Amino acid sequence: MVSNRSCLTLAQEATRTSSRLVLAAAIGLGGSVASAWAQDVAEQPRGSTLCTKLPVPCDAVIAHRGASFEAPESTMPAYLLARELGADYLELDLQRTKDGELIAFHDDTLGRNTDVAEVFPERAKAPVSAFTLAELKRLDAGSWFNEAYPARARDSYAGLEILTLDEVIDIAEGGDNRPGLYIETKVPEQFPGIEADLRAALEARGWAGESTTSREGATDGAVAVADGPGRVIMQTFSRQSLQALETTLPSVPRVLLLWLGEGGIDAAAADPQADTESTADYYARQQVASSEAYAEWIDFAKAHGAIGVGPSTVQQEHDGAFSSQFSYADLAEPWMIGMAHDEGLLVHPYTVDEPVDFARYRERGVDGFFTNRPAALLEFYDRPAGDPADMLERLGY
Ligand code: G3P
Ligand code: CA
Repeated sequence: MVSNRSCLTLAQEATRTSSRLVLAAAIGLGGSVASAWAQDVAEQPRGSTLCTKLPVPCDAVIAHRGASFEAPESTMPAYLLARELGADYLELDLQRTKDGELIAFHDDTLGRNTDVAEVFPERAKAPVSAFTLAELKRLDAGSWFNEAYPARARDSYAGLEILTLDEVIDIAEGGDNRPGLYIETKVPEQFPGIEADLRAALEARGWAGESTTSREGATDGAVAVADGPGRVIMQTFSRQSLQALETTLPSVPRVLLLWLGEGGIDAAAADPQADTESTADYYARQQVASSEAYAEWIDFAKAHGAIGVGPSTVQQEHDGAFSSQFSYADLAEPWMIGMAHDEGLLVHPYTVDEPVDFARYRERGVDGFFTNRPAALLEFYDRPAGDPADMLERLGY
């Protein structure tokens, strides 16, 4: 564990490091539109004014795999509910099927949240990319939720399908609220060229550039993110994918996701996880190796025209176990948020579900959240949201 004194030292070091990074940005790294947005705000003070200079809503409500607390992740009711509640963005993890279709699915494999073991027993551990879309459409992506969360189970969730990107776009376009899409290139090393495929798919739907949709007659107060320049945000943990997105979709805002450890920010040495220690507790005591290690990722994001970063967070203890599965190392400590803001980078932490955690991180100055519970976050931000159960009924679930 790092002492308070060490933390102060890290913060002081961070301030010095960030000055160097502002200088690096000022000498013209990157040339895209997104990069220009980022550079315009490089010298803004940290805090909520940053979002007013970028094509992204302040206090952004990003529905992580849809409203995935109340409905099975990445399925039709999860995204429909997020839209109806008034989330700003529908978050999705992009993968590609064996026959080249783009789909919304998080895990590399299908075992956790589909019945692949029953439908394709001999291929139950095969990667998602080994299945055609027609094969994936045969899977039940909803029943697992009813078994895992009986208090939130609904008969109508049984048999829900994995969705294509096109189907998620249909949802985003299909109501009075028009949320944007916050798309992660998931395990992009498995999908060479997926950034170009995505560009073609977004262009085919008119989502690659400025919206041409008229909002005349739109309901007062409706979400209209899909009609603005921040209608799509790309996110990735992969530096290579961030670079590919910079080239392939230069005018689409990009966010670099931050992770501590293998493949991510260098971690300080720590004792191994004890048998009696929860994974959440283990993650919570992990620390960055140094402020330079963190700054190096901020620097990379900035140099490649990102408009923000998405750090992991640590969740406080709650009654239910749901949130703790998203509790990781705290990469949104105040000095870290300050460093990102000093570089003109928004901070959208993942994945936060409880008001006590919304409050803790908002106090630190974050610009929105990835959340499985958009209804709770909208309420926290004093934005009216209906009752999720009533909405699901109205939506036919
Ligand atoms: O995309 C932000 C957050 O979703 C990253 O974590 O694993 O849920 O995709 P994951
Ligand atoms: Ca994601």
